[in-house]
Amino acid sequence: MQLTDKIALVTGASAGLGAQVSRDLVARGARVFGLARREERLNALQDELGDAFTPLPADVTSEEDIQNTFRRIGDRLDILVNNAGLGKFGPAKDTSTADWDLQINVNLKGVFLCTRAAIPLMQEQNRHVGFGGHIINVSSVAGLMGNPNVSAYNVTKFGLKGYSEALFKELREDGIKVTCIFPGSIETEFFEQAGVSISDHPMTSEDVSGSVMHVLEAPDNYLVSEIVMRPLRPKLKS
Ligand SMILES: NC(=O)c1ccc[n+]([C@@H]2O[C@H](COP(=O)([O-])OP(=O)(O)OC[C@H]3O[C@@H](n4cnc5c(N)ncnc54)[C@H](OP(=O)(O)O)[C@@H]3O)[C@@H](O)[C@H]2O)c1
Repeated sequence: MQLTDKIALVTGASAGLGAQVSRDLVARGARVFGLARREERLNALQDELGDAFTPLPADVTSEEDIQNTFRRIGDRLDILVNNAGLGKFGPAKDTSTADWDLQINVNLKGVFLCTRAAIPLMQEQNRHVGFGGHIINVSSVAGLMGNPNVSAYNVTKFGLKGYSEALFKELREDGIKVTCIFPGSIETEFFEQAGVSISDHPMTSEDVSGSVMHVLEAPDNYLVSEIVMRPLRPKLKS
């Protein structure tokens, strides 16, 4: 897809990977709606990117917020990047119900609410122009392998893998691409929330966003359904 003049919704646009995907989309001429809870961060990004970036303060877990978000977007959406997410790591026996619910709600319910609202717009577009759009779901290598102290986050990111696979099969005949990306460590604020330290040589948001741009810009006749990205040499030599 050519990204010039395309309309995108990026969730979790206030920080890290979502902010970088927003920058890269705007640099390619797209109009970006950036969704997150921290309005001041979104406004700062708008100061940087200009009118091509529209802040949409919202909580992805709120059905009402997502309905309002889609009212603001209008009747056309070419790209949905389901990026908002968080991890709360620790032993399974110590995982609070609140932390379990939070991860399920942000990482899965948020994706569900945004995707459900986006599909009819993309299907309608497919009827008019013969191409529906592209949904990118940000999973993690934690969506491919379970690890100690990551169990709740593993559940959500494995869930996103299944959701993405079902969606791509369901929507490909509507001209809608679905890509699930599985990155390893990215240098963002994610690790402050997760309560663990990052690997010595993580990837950057620019690295991962670059691959997101690559799949978005691929020709319309095929889709890349999954991408796995890992840092090279993650550990410092001892
Ligand atoms: N960093 C890594 O190593 C890594 C690796 C693999 C996958 N990932 C995934 O990459 C995605 C982006 O994470 P990141 O690394 O960029 O982390 P980050 O810097 O902590 O950014 C997370 C973003 O999610 C948003 N968010 C969280 N809860 C939200 C809610 N309820 N409603 C709306 N937005 C919400 C945050 O915005 P507000 O707080 O302003 O709402 C923020 O913009 C996540 O899905 C994460 O699981 C990260």
